[in-house]
Amino acid sequence: MAEFKREHWGSKIGFILAAAGSAIGLGNIWKFPYIAGENGGAAFIFVYLICIALIGLPVLMGEILLGRTSQKNPVGAFRALTKSKFWPLVGFLGVIAGFTILSFYSVVAGWATGYITEAVMNNFSLYNETASSGEHFNSLVSNPYWIIGYDLLFMAVSMLIVYAGINKGIERGSKILMPMLFVLLLISMMRGLTLDGAQEGIDFLLKPDWSRITGNSVLIALGHAFFTLSLGMGAMMTYGSYMSEKDNIPNAALQIVFLDTLIAMMAGVAIFTSVFATGLDPAGGPGLIFQTLPVVFSKMPGGYIFAIFFFLLLTIAALTSAISLLEVVVSYFVDEKGYARHKAVLIFGGLAFAVSVPSALSFNYMADIKIAGLTFFDLMDFLASNIFLPLGGLLMSIFIAWRWGLNNAVSAIKKGAESLFNKHPYLINLWIFFLKYLSPILIFLVLLHSAGLLKK
Ligand code: PFF
Repeated sequence: MAEFKREHWGSKIGFILAAAGSAIGLGNIWKFPYIAGENGGAAFIFVYLICIALIGLPVLMGEILLGRTSQKNPVGAFRALTKSKFWPLVGFLGVIAGFTILSFYSVVAGWATGYITEAVMNNFSLYNETASSGEHFNSLVSNPYWIIGYDLLFMAVSMLIVYAGINKGIERGSKILMPMLFVLLLISMMRGLTLDGAQEGIDFLLKPDWSRITGNSVLIALGHAFFTLSLGMGAMMTYGSYMSEKDNIPNAALQIVFLDTLIAMMAGVAIFTSVFATGLDPAGGPGLIFQTLPVVFSKMPGGYIFAIFFFLLLTIAALTSAISLLEVVVSYFVDEKGYARHKAVLIFGGLAFAVSVPSALSFNYMADIKIAGLTFFDLMDFLASNIFLPLGGLLMSIFIAWRWGLNNAVSAIKKGAESLFNKHPYLINLWIFFLKYLSPILIFLVLLHSAGLLKK
């Protein structure tokens, strides 16, 4: 009778903080700057913001709603709402996506964790030039013991938090960690803005070069909108399942989108002011922040302490996201397969770590092994961000609008948000239009492009 004992968020802010904690992570601070850098800056950011507003927000509301209505994990949610055998597979796709993302996520989170140690040992002062800092990064990631060791440490801490359960673990952790993250990022941004040469970074973020927009960059922007909002794989559905009907979903979704975008923009300012001030290449790839920031820290007063704080911040942000990834997998096995929570955490956390090993080895032993031209690490990222998540979002939108039925969806979304929709009734129609037509069509076109079926 697990349903009767289902834990709930202790407070409204508990859900928002935990969901924002899932959304805000390496995606905002590590991935957003590096893909924006590779895809030309401002114009890419513009497309990304459009994807967030037109697709991300409506789909996020839908996904949370499915979780709240069913009070179930992603597979159980579809089972509870339809008799069809097909739809629960969408939830299962989410469980697979969870593993796929964790497999590369914990590797980068491990870099952040390892960089805390580097900062504490004051190693950045030895590598205070752009070139030597790049070499330092390369030599660390080419050491399999370093990369796998910190990957393991990070996974172990994530498992410990998920092990403690929803109220005690995730909610309590997020309440302390999220505000801390915000303050640290604010300081990083102010530091970046006061560097010599910061203006060039601001221009890169604000002055669009439209010629850089290609079908491929639109695909990356859309995939990142899903990735950064933890959308399309059931993470928000799982968190929504711990919500009650008194909670206002549109409001919560808007706050999550706002906070996530704010943090990405703050990270963008902090990183690109520093990238240009240190003369680095903005298209430097996945190592971008790990190569740039140590140089900046080593050249600023108080940089020693600041570097420790920054990488601590990054690790914390990664932690609140990783626990939501693991939670999707764990809640599926607990609810659907009758596993004890503790056992599910141990088994599937362990398994996720095992799958992360080839991702970690992509930076050393397996660097030359390419599948479809990509290393294992890049392949996992590509599959998850550009295929699984948009596909999951597409199917969820279709499910809500065309299968579950708009009448059900509308009456469910109104619960907890009566006053908002009484005051602005057109918002409901807008949401329906986006979910029924706009997001499915846009996502479908982008997926067709990624399958190579549409020419640029
Ligand atoms: N949104 C997280 C980030 O931006 O780092 C990554 C993520 C977490 C994606 C949870 C998907 C997910 F379910």
